[in-house]
Amino acid sequence: MPRIPIRVREAAAADIPILVRLGKELPGGYASRRRGTSRPGLTSSPLTFEHRYAEALADSRRRVVLAVGEDGEPLGMAVFAQVSTSPLVDVPAVQVSHLIVDGGHRRKGAGRALVAAAAAYAGEIGRDQIMVNVLPGARDVHRFYARLGFAPLVVRRVTSIAALRRRLGAAELRPAPGLLRRRPGVRPLSSRAGARPARRAANAASELSGLPVRSRLWSNPLAER
Ligand SMILES: CC(C)(COP(=O)(O)OP(=O)(O)OC[C@H]1O[C@@H](n2cnc3c(N)ncnc32)[C@H](O)[C@@H]1OP(=O)(O)O)[C@@H](O)C(=O)NCCC(=O)NCCS
Repeated sequence: MPRIPIRVREAAAADIPILVRLGKELPGGYASRRRGTSRPGLTSSPLTFEHRYAEALADSRRRVVLAVGEDGEPLGMAVFAQVSTSPLVDVPAVQVSHLIVDGGHRRKGAGRALVAAAAAYAGEIGRDQIMVNVLPGARDVHRFYARLGFAPLVVRRVTSIAALRRRLGAAELRPAPGLLRRRPGVRPLSSRAGARPARRAANAASELSGLPVRSRLWSNPLAER
C-alpha cells in the first residue's frame, strides 16, 4: 500500500465527534457493548465517551492527537498519557491508547505516524519508555507493534466483583471488619501491642511511603455486600 503525506496534530474540542466516530472502530469499544458482547474492563456508552474525550483534552498529563492527510482529512487518532510502568516502581513512561486508524485508511502509514508522535511527545517530556495495552486476540495489532520493536510486558487480567464473588467460597467472602478499613478514633494498630501482623505491615508500608494511612486503606467491596 503506498504511503501518503501524513501530519499529526493535537486534537481540539471541535474534533470530539471525529474522535467518537474513530473510537467506534476500537475492538470491544462501546459499539460492541450495545450488542452486549463487550469484554469486562471495556466499558462506556457513546455519550460518556464524548465526555471522556473532553476530559482528556483538558488534562495536562494527556495528549489527544489526530493523524490527518494532506487536505486535513482525519485518518486516525491516539491518546498519550504520562504513566508509570509499575504502581510500585517508578518507571516513567508514556502510554499510548486509542490508537485507531480509520478502516478506509489503514496500511498507509498513519499508525506509524501516530506512534512516531508518541515518541516525540515522550522525548519532549523526558520519558524514555512507551507502553501500550493490546487485546490478547488482536493479532494484527500485536504484529503492528512488534514490527516497531514493542515487546510483551505483562498479561493483565480483569473480572467484575460480582463474577469474583461467584467464584469465591462463602468463607472467603466473610466480612473482615476492621481489617481493611480504619475506623475513626482508632489508634493505628502498629502503635499497640498485639497488633495483627497484616495490619502492622500495612502501617509500616505507610511509614515508608510517607503517605497518610487513610489514603492507603480501602474498604473491602467483597466483604461489604
Ligand atoms: C493497528 C493500526 C492502528 C495500524 O494502523 P495502520 O495505519 O494501518 O498502520 P501502518 O500503515 O502505519 O502500518 C505500519 C506497518 O505495521 C504493520 N501492520 C500494520 N497493520 C498490519 C496488519 N493488519 N497486519 C500485519 N501488519 C500490519 C506493517 O508492517 C505495516 O507496514 P506495511 O504496510 O509497509 O507492511 C490499525 O490497524 C487499527 O486502527 N486497528 C484497529 C484499532 C486497534 O485495534 N487499535 C489498537 C488499539 S491497542
